[in-house]
Amino acid sequence: MVNKRVFIETYGCQMNVYDSEVVLSILGKEGFTPCGGIEEADLILVNTCSIRENAEQRVWGRLDRFLQEKKKRKVTVGVLGCMAERIRQELLSHPAVDIVAGPDTYRRLPELLRRLGAEGQKQIDTALSLKETYADIEPVRTDKNGVTSFISIMRGCNNMCTYCIVPYVRGGERSRDPRSIVKEAEKMYADGYREVNLLGQNVDSYLWKNPENPTESVNFAQLIELVALVAPDLRVRFSTSHPKDMSNGVLYSMAMYPNICTHIHLPVQSGSDRMLEKMNRKYTTAAYLERIAKIHEVVPEAAVTTDIIAGFCSETEEDHQATLELMRQVRFDSAFMFQYSQRPGTKAARHFADDVPPEVKTRRLNEIIELQSAISLERNHECIGQTYEVLIEGTSKRDSGSLFGRTSSNKVCVFPALGHRPGEYVNIKVESCTSATLLGNIV
Ligand code: SAH
Ligand code: SF4
Ligand code: F3S
Repeated sequence: MVNKRVFIETYGCQMNVYDSEVVLSILGKEGFTPCGGIEEADLILVNTCSIRENAEQRVWGRLDRFLQEKKKRKVTVGVLGCMAERIRQELLSHPAVDIVAGPDTYRRLPELLRRLGAEGQKQIDTALSLKETYADIEPVRTDKNGVTSFISIMRGCNNMCTYCIVPYVRGGERSRDPRSIVKEAEKMYADGYREVNLLGQNVDSYLWKNPENPTESVNFAQLIELVALVAPDLRVRFSTSHPKDMSNGVLYSMAMYPNICTHIHLPVQSGSDRMLEKMNRKYTTAAYLERIAKIHEVVPEAAVTTDIIAGFCSETEEDHQATLELMRQVRFDSAFMFQYSQRPGTKAARHFADDVPPEVKTRRLNEIIELQSAISLERNHECIGQTYEVLIEGTSKRDSGSLFGRTSSNKVCVFPALGHRPGEYVNIKVESCTSATLLGNIV
């Protein structure tokens, strides 16, 4: 067996982080060990994202950097992930690139490497699969803390939001066998992990049918209960929920199991019904607000976070104001906020003009960000004086005498260590806050 070093750089969402761990596992069986940087690596991999144009721009910059490395010594470079799927030929033409492999082809990486060695020719595989979930592969964990990590429960997306590239680069939706998910959670718990984060583009549409017995099926509410039963002190988180599909069943499971975390990431995208329709989100603001009301009713302590896009095609000032209004109404705990970025091949790129001028997009985004930081700060202020159970994840970046962790509602908490360690649960009384962090003490 060869003893070679691999370095993998990961861009994009948590699914890519998980996939990189799957790739390390597949390559580990071929004798590759992970190393600390591109300078030490025999194989450099970059796992890419196509969600917005700037995500892709960054990768082109990295490829130029890898080319410099290649001029110094013998090193193989592979591009993985969503960009590999979207613009395979362009990537293959870059002088740094030896291998291009799409998100469903990672089992073939050893073969692509062998062929590259034998034939000396660039190798590519970007076939998408209707079945691949990498269910049987035990990822090589790359988190820094050994406390919290991801489990992918499904792949792909069937939703076809008009702005979004994901369905094109990740293929159709498929749900992973729940038995393999539970097994992975059990293994993580045995290894000392105390939190698993279940990942899917739309977790609420998780539905697994037993191929041996088609009458047997598991939905998402049932799945989170199965994972919650692994151990009472193993926290269960999940993302992303879709407003059109989030069921009351998920909320009831959350209310019933103290270790299912009280946080829902529920991207709204816009507060204008006209925009939502044009985005093909398949809900109205009224329906969204109904889901929010139900969350508050069933799990009053739950935090709700969101994603918002500013400046989608034909967005007027009135649409933008409607988004700000919805934000004031819901008072999200936090949000990821983006300017619309046209993605070639999507329905929006083919049929709608990207007609909001860049400076208007930026101004609207800034207004959204400003409003959200004020709301986040207010929300965090409401936590002052309260005591929360926090799972310790590590040492604070700013102060080595302090630790950080999260509340069940996913708020980051920083507090003096007092001899405690990552992986422990502590009760923290919140004394002060910023818009992003709660500060407190162990009680
Ligand atoms: N599956 C998740 C989101 C995945 S992408 C969901 O449906 O909510 C994460 C976020 O990126 C999206 O929620 C959206 O807000 C943003 N996004 C996706 N495509 C985008 C685009 N073309 N321009 C700007 N933001 C985009
Ligand atoms: Fe993209 Fe919509 Fe699927 Fe989310 S649900 S990944 S935004 S198509
Ligand atoms: Fe990006 Fe692909 Fe995730 S496009 S956001 S890495 S699914």
